[in-house]
Amino acid sequence: MIEIAHVSDLHFAWAPGDAGVPAHGFLNKRLVGYANLRFHRKNPQAIADALGEDLRAHPPDHLAITGDLTNLSLPGEFRRARDWIESLELPPERVSVIPGNHDAYVPEGLDLFEETFAPWLPGPSWPREQRAGPAALFGTSSSLPVPWFRAWGALGPEQLDSLSRLIDASDAPLKAVLVHHPPVLGNGRPDKPTRNNRDGARLIEVCRGRVDLILCGHTHEAFDYTFPGERPLRVFCAGSTTMAPKTHGQAATYNRYRSLGGRLNEIVVRGFDPQLGAFLSLSSRRPAPAGLTPAPS
Ligand SMILES: [Fe+2]
Ligand SMILES: [Fe+2]
Repeated sequence: MIEIAHVSDLHFAWAPGDAGVPAHGFLNKRLVGYANLRFHRKNPQAIADALGEDLRAHPPDHLAITGDLTNLSLPGEFRRARDWIESLELPPERVSVIPGNHDAYVPEGLDLFEETFAPWLPGPSWPREQRAGPAALFGTSSSLPVPWFRAWGALGPEQLDSLSRLIDASDAPLKAVLVHHPPVLGNGRPDKPTRNNRDGARLIEVCRGRVDLILCGHTHEAFDYTFPGERPLRVFCAGSTTMAPKTHGQAATYNRYRSLGGRLNEIVVRGFDPQLGAFLSLSSRRPAPAGLTPAPS
């Protein structure tokens, strides 16, 4: 049995006095993000610390982090995120990390991402493949700097072609693609154009019948959707694992996928309990059988 833990949208804040840029470094799209941060979004460090405790207490065989590790692509936020990953004490080959749109908030964001997470990024460019026993994980980047008030993403034809070739070449019985922007939401339809994955339909085409899992983040609301078939394609969004419990009426949660013999056979959801200050198991279920589409969750 192997277990893949899937966390997302950790949105680390910079430590006081350690943003890593002078004041004029905020005179760009970061202004919008800063306002959003002040008035709407909260990802307390205490929840990230509790998540770290949980992952250290129950180390998964592999950890997938599906983007938005920062808020404003600030060097200080990237440092906090890297320190957190290091604190898990998992070897680099057991951690996959991909960028989210907040890690590409300004043009220098993606270079900072590459620099900061170099130990966890095998190969020179996306897609990047890692192996976890019977599972192959293909990390992609749908994140690129987009105009103010926009949060859409795209993979591009070159990355999709490379992904298709990697999938073909892999003999892993369980295949998972990591992408920040979900190709569909829990209702099976794409997100709105200002925040969707513009290559979502093409990604589904590449993956259907050849891949078992698409793991994503971005929406801050956990959901899953299954494309039925002989080899079902299951899309899981982990939500925002460090989101303050009341922000969207949804708790901070993450998923653990258990696989036996290369098949997904259990999905465990763990969530943050504010009273305990710790993560605990919220639910455990078996995936819907092949050929059936579950009701949107
Ligand atoms: Fe996010
Ligand atoms: Fe995002």
